[in-house]
Amino acid sequence: MSVKTLKIDNKDIAIEEGATILQAAQENGIPIPTLCHLEGVTDVGACRLCLVEIKGTNRLLPACVTEVAEGMEIQTNTEKLQEYRKMTVELLFSEGNHICAVCVANGNCELQDVAIQVGMDHTRFTYRFPDRGVDMSHELFGIDHNRCILCTRCVRVCDEIEGAHVWDVAMRGAACYIVSGLNQPWGEVDACTSCGKCVDACPTGSIFRKGETTAEKERDRAKLEFLVNAREKHQWTR
Ligand code: SF4
Ligand code: SF4
Ligand code: FES
Repeated sequence: MSVKTLKIDNKDIAIEEGATILQAAQENGIPIPTLCHLEGVTDVGACRLCLVEIKGTNRLLPACVTEVAEGMEIQTNTEKLQEYRKMTVELLFSEGNHICAVCVANGNCELQDVAIQVGMDHTRFTYRFPDRGVDMSHELFGIDHNRCILCTRCVRVCDEIEGAHVWDVAMRGAACYIVSGLNQPWGEVDACTSCGKCVDACPTGSIFRKGETTAEKERDRAKLEFLVNAREKHQWTR
C-alpha cells in the first residue's frame, strides 16, 4: 500500500493511502471536533462538525469521510471553521429539547463536550422545541427523541456490530427521526437483542437505561472498542 504525504495545520504528515483526514489528524495529535464519528463503525459525514479547509477548493469538506491525497494542504482550525462549528452546535441546541439540567446525560454528554470545545454558551437561533415523544416500551431501555441529534450512531452500531438492524432513519428534513423496526414501539421489535450497544453509542441522553435519572447515564465505550478489536484482530479479552 502506498503512502501519501500531506500537510495538516502546516505539519508534514505521512499516512497510508485510503486513510481519512480525520485519521491522519488524530494519529498526529491534531484535534478535530466530531459527533457522528464512532470508532469501529462506518463514517457517514452526518454532523458536519469535522469540516476542514483544503487548499485549492472553496468547499469545506468533512474530515471523517474525505480520504487523504498526495500534497494536500489542510487547515483544521481557521476562524471560518471555528464560526461554522459554533453555528452547527447552536443549531443542534435550538432544534431539539436540550434542557441539560433534567437530562440523564448531564455531565456525561458528547454534545455538551463539543459545545464547550467550540466555545458555545448560548444559541442565537430561535428554539423550536418540537414535541417528538419518548418511547419507554422496551423492558430495559428508553429513547427520548427530543434529545436526538440524528447522528445515526445507534443505527450503525446495531447494524454493523450487533447485526440486528433495529434502527433506521425515517422521513426527511425537519421531520426526520430515528425509527425502531417497521415504525413500531421499540419493545415490540423482535430483532432487538437487548444488547445495549445503542445506549453505549449514543452521544447524548437520547437512548438511556431505564432507572437512570438526571446525570446518571454512563456508557461502556470500551465495550464497543473491545468488540471491534475482537473481530478485526481476534483479541478476545479485555
Ligand atoms: S443530551 Fe446532552 S446537550 Fe442534550 S440535554 Fe442532555 S446533557 Fe444537555
Ligand atoms: S438516538 Fe442517539 S445515537 Fe441514535 S441518532 Fe439519536 S443521538 Fe444519535
Ligand atoms: S464527524 Fe465528520 S461529519 Fe460528523
